[in-house]
Amino acid sequence: VSACARSVIVVAIACIAPGCDVRRALHPPDPDFNRMLVQPKGQPYEATRAFENGAVMRAPPSGAIPFGGRQETRPPLSVALLTQGRERYEILCAACHGVTGEGTSVVATKMQHRPPPSFLEARLTAYSAEEIHRVVVEGFGLMRSYATDLDPSEMWAVAEYVKALQFSRHAQVASLPPDVRRRLEAVAP
Ligand code: HEC
Repeated sequence: VSACARSVIVVAIACIAPGCDVRRALHPPDPDFNRMLVQPKGQPYEATRAFENGAVMRAPPSGAIPFGGRQETRPPLSVALLTQGRERYEILCAACHGVTGEGTSVVATKMQHRPPPSFLEARLTAYSAEEIHRVVVEGFGLMRSYATDLDPSEMWAVAEYVKALQFSRHAQVASLPPDVRRRLEAVAP
């Protein structure tokens, strides 16, 4: 038998082998599986016969925070908010950024790569509270996010406090409320 004929025989045997048996695939599907199309089952979002309360997904408990996004309710600016921002800033941020926000801290002097910038740099005084808030939520460059350390409203409080720190260094005496101005002039005429 020639080599060519031998390979023809090998191929022919392979096709008779069980792997090539297509008869099973031609059987009609098991009638038991048809019930899966009609049996009572829960739909994630649609109300179905099977579930009295409607859809399978339960309504989120009140106050639940959607995964991947916190509630974005921005609290109104107030003295109480700034006081809270200062308290959180001094605990969480000042270790690196310094109590006055100028980036002077022991930790900063030990940073080998990029130390924290001064919040008084023109690039950062131009930041709005929203932009500072985004740095707190997402982190920036080498700085991590602080979203797991602060409540949603505290993140706004800290951002507003950073704006207040910046403003405190450039405030014009003429822009102060009259009573504050009188008190200032009493100590520094
Ligand atoms: C462990 C040290 C550390 C702490 C704590 C820290 N930061 Fe930072 N922060 C940095 C460093 C370092 C940078 C510069 C990152 C870079 O440029 O890669 C930075 C940058 C920033 C910037 C400037 C981002 C920009 O666009 O240039 C802001 C704003 C800021 N931090 C706010 C905060 C606030 C608010 C907190 C507290 C919630 C905080 N940081 C806590 C180290 C820290």
